[in-house]
Amino acid sequence: MRTQVGIVGAGPAGLLLSHLLALRGIDSVVVEIRSRAYCEARQRAGILEHGSVRLLRDAGLAGRLDRQGLEHGGIYLQFDGERHHVDFRALTGRTVTVYAQTEVVKDLIAERITRGGHIEFEVTDTEVDRLDTDQPVLRYTDASGTRHEVVCDAIAGCDGFHGICRPRIPAELLKVTERGYPYAWLGILADVPPSTDELIYSHHKNGFALHSLRSPTVSRLYLQVDPDESIDNWSDQRIWDELQRRFELPGSVWRLEVGPVLDKSITPMRSFVATPMRYGRMFLAGDAAHIVPPTGAKGLNLAIADVAVLAPALDWLLRGKLELADAYTATCMDRVWRATHFSWWMTTMLHRTPGADDMEAALQQSQLRYVSSSRAAATSLAENYTGYPELRYKKD
Ligand code: FAD
Ligand code: DHB
Repeated sequence: MRTQVGIVGAGPAGLLLSHLLALRGIDSVVVEIRSRAYCEARQRAGILEHGSVRLLRDAGLAGRLDRQGLEHGGIYLQFDGERHHVDFRALTGRTVTVYAQTEVVKDLIAERITRGGHIEFEVTDTEVDRLDTDQPVLRYTDASGTRHEVVCDAIAGCDGFHGICRPRIPAELLKVTERGYPYAWLGILADVPPSTDELIYSHHKNGFALHSLRSPTVSRLYLQVDPDESIDNWSDQRIWDELQRRFELPGSVWRLEVGPVLDKSITPMRSFVATPMRYGRMFLAGDAAHIVPPTGAKGLNLAIADVAVLAPALDWLLRGKLELADAYTATCMDRVWRATHFSWWMTTMLHRTPGADDMEAALQQSQLRYVSSSRAAATSLAENYTGYPELRYKKD
């Protein structure tokens, strides 16, 4: 078999890349270890930046997003039993859109299949090889057990943090910058209308909590837990009791509505950046190259931003022009490091660090008060949260 771009992974990065390439008349094959149903049901991110929405719209992918996405003009920061609104619209003129990653993935898969795109689900033994030649190859065994070798002009490693592509970059060329955090998030999806008009990021002495949503009838909530916590220790009742406690507003009639839990899981947290994002004719995009803790809602948006840079770079490469491919890592890194800093900043401002001393706790309080009372500080949060359309320090 032959294709122009072999894509490993049918997450948001791989699927969107395949679509953006098709718009440029470039064919690709996407291989994915999971089933289509699994990819469409995997509960993950929920917030699209202003620029991500625009990109999806410009790429003809926003039919359902425009009908069902919920535009949000701000968030609440809660601490010391008080809730403060950060008004993105007033501070930056921009908004974000609540539209789940599951829906982005469903839209992308449907669009690729309608247009005759080639996605192979439930593959095994994916391999990428001959990456430092002009004809790299992608090998996989399809769902029926047949082994394939696809000769490509380029390979895109969109296979997430645990994928096989990043480890193919020789260790002596790869620089990894990494930090772990002493906590994790327990996330639930609940069949209950949201108890809030905007997301609530709550700092509480028991730990952080986040109230998000998926639709007018479905809520998404998160609790900070220990990194080695087992989901078996958290009955639905215990989760709701703890959420109730961390969102409580003393003296107010506000209360958290509870309902049936549809899904629950625990996610560890880390900051991780690997460079270069390219080795020969293999290019990494999304979680394959970088991970952020979820507090800034950036992971999905970074994956979208990477492939928006990669699609034209591959188009040029296929026409013998290497400038954009050569600039790929540096172009992505400006945004990746801004998001990595913002995600670290939101995370450390809002979580309770086990064993934190009085100094650390007081600095955290001071930062929360500053962001909630200074227009300059709130504008910085709003600008980072809604996205970075003007982020461009380097010359093209
Ligand atoms: P992925 O979505 O991970 O897609 C990679 C794909 O590659 C997967 O489908 C995988 O099955 C496939 N794959 C892996 N190995 C192979 C192989 N060998 N062969 C073929 N296919 C392969 N971000 C937020 O902003 N907010 C959140 O609340 C949030 N929650 C998250 C919860 C979890 C459990 C995780 C893991 C991530 C979360 N994120 C969140 C981050 C966000 O969802 C990711 O940044 C986003 O999914 C990145 O997209 P991607 O396409 O790069 O990678
Ligand atoms: C969601 C996840 C996040 O990490 C975040 O910061 C905001 C919202 C969500 O899943 O809705």
